[in-house]
Amino acid sequence: MEELLSQIALHKEEMRAFEAADAPSLEAFRIRFLGPKGIIKALMGEMKQVPAAQKKEFGMVMNALKSDAEQKYESCRAALFVQASTTRPGQDLTLPGDPVRIGSRHPITLMRNRIVSIFSRLGFAVAEGPEMEDDWHNFTALNLDEDHPARDMQDTFYLSKSPDRLLRTHTSNVQIREMQKGRLPIRIVCPGRVYRNETVSARSHCFFHQVEGLYINEQVSFADLKQTLYFFVQEMFGTAVKIRFRPSFFPFTEPSAEMDISCLLCHGEGCNVCKHTGWLEILGCGMVHPKVLSNCGIDPDRYQGFAFGMGIERPAMLKYGITDIRLFSENDVRFLQQFTAAY
Ligand code: DAH
Repeated sequence: MEELLSQIALHKEEMRAFEAADAPSLEAFRIRFLGPKGIIKALMGEMKQVPAAQKKEFGMVMNALKSDAEQKYESCRAALFVQASTTRPGQDLTLPGDPVRIGSRHPITLMRNRIVSIFSRLGFAVAEGPEMEDDWHNFTALNLDEDHPARDMQDTFYLSKSPDRLLRTHTSNVQIREMQKGRLPIRIVCPGRVYRNETVSARSHCFFHQVEGLYINEQVSFADLKQTLYFFVQEMFGTAVKIRFRPSFFPFTEPSAEMDISCLLCHGEGCNVCKHTGWLEILGCGMVHPKVLSNCGIDPDRYQGFAFGMGIERPAMLKYGITDIRLFSENDVRFLQQFTAAY
């Protein structure tokens, strides 16, 4: 019995020291210890010689030896498997992994979301419409005459010979589509992409983005429009910024105005960005023309409304200090990576 126990101790030590360099050496280990002609089987055969009083102890020692062998085999097998599936010769597993690049939102998306979130706090919902539009929704319903220059091929991208397939030149088509639904009152902002046949330069592009706003209810006045836009400017650009309205003309509003904010860079002193006027024009607006209401089946004697339309690129350029509008659509990762705000 003593003899057997010291043999077992030696085998235990050999097992403990074993390291599987590769699959064949692990297989050799299995055969040597756990195989049908292996050491453990052979030792079990010695049971007959063990005195009856010591059989129990011998059994326990053998069971422990067998389970040690099995555990060693399994752990070596698992380690070899992981190694085989991940390593190549010469690979250094202690090196840090390849970084996963995290995307960032496009600056236009950031600005759009900011604008929408400010108006949503005033109860404006988001509405969207098609970029490919017909003549009626893009022009006629908005009170643009047949001979209005905006319909010219020079300004509008027509998709076929028929004037009824064009790329919308503004987001005002969404006003029309929402008013036609006839669910009043209406309080919406409509963000989206628009197209104009313009020469691409640092300051203008043949496609850009706008947010349209529309509020239709009973008893809406210009004061409501002014207050809404004032709230927007304060939230967007801060409370120090001043606003001013200049009379203007749009076929779809009467009266019409353009709204300026005091220059964000020089605070009204005059600089290159504001062309030394101290003011930056940021949107067009006005009271919805009664003809536009009736074109959409809304009674102009009962309902009034205000509307506004602003570009997204310009405020985004001001906010982020971007000096070339073309950067927005060039997909240069070095440019896009710089915008990490959470919006
Ligand atoms: N549609 C105009 C444009 O693209 C912007 C605009 C001006 C929209 C006045 C409006 C508005 O709703 O009331 O230049």
